[in-house]
Amino acid sequence: MVPGEAPRRVLLVGFMASGKTSVGRELAGLLGWKFHDFDAVIEERAGVTVSEIFHRDGEAHFRKLESDVGRALLREEHVVLATGGGWPAQPGSWGAVPEGTLSVWLRVSPGVAVRRTSSEGPIRPLLVGGDLERRAAELMARREASYRQARVVLDSDEDDVPTLAMRIMTIIRGEARDR
Ligand code: S3P
Repeated sequence: MVPGEAPRRVLLVGFMASGKTSVGRELAGLLGWKFHDFDAVIEERAGVTVSEIFHRDGEAHFRKLESDVGRALLREEHVVLATGGGWPAQPGSWGAVPEGTLSVWLRVSPGVAVRRTSSEGPIRPLLVGGDLERRAAELMARREASYRQARVVLDSDEDDVPTLAMRIMTIIRGEARDR
């Protein structure tokens, strides 16, 4: 972020089930800001679920919708945004992040991600069937460099949702105070 500028939006990135949506909602409540989840907006616009888009039109089509939604949401201010797990790894994604954005990587381990997604049911087309933990580990390894571009990293294996939201709140307050 540019020195001298307090955050006007928060962008949460991280693997599936890292807590982006839950932490984002909680944080938006604390800040009195709006909350948007990329996947939810894609589903609203398309009128079908993310799974259906993957199965019917393929991943490339989903990525195009995701990129368009990301660009639109990143123009908003006083907003907390939860990206989908694959968004940061798509070419051009980080280039669309404007100044005044506090980006946060919620880091989760493959084992915890798989346990959480399994308890939520088969709603993630990229994590269905087979050796899930190995697949999650491979996908995560391929994406790690893109997640690392976030300004802040927080551990989502250990900390619960309210703690993670408070940590981000503290960072924002600190940056606002330093101005
Ligand atoms: C994806 C993650 C999902 C969703 C889609 C693809 C990915 O979002 O965008 O199933 O490529 O990791 P969550 O991270 O919110 O599960």
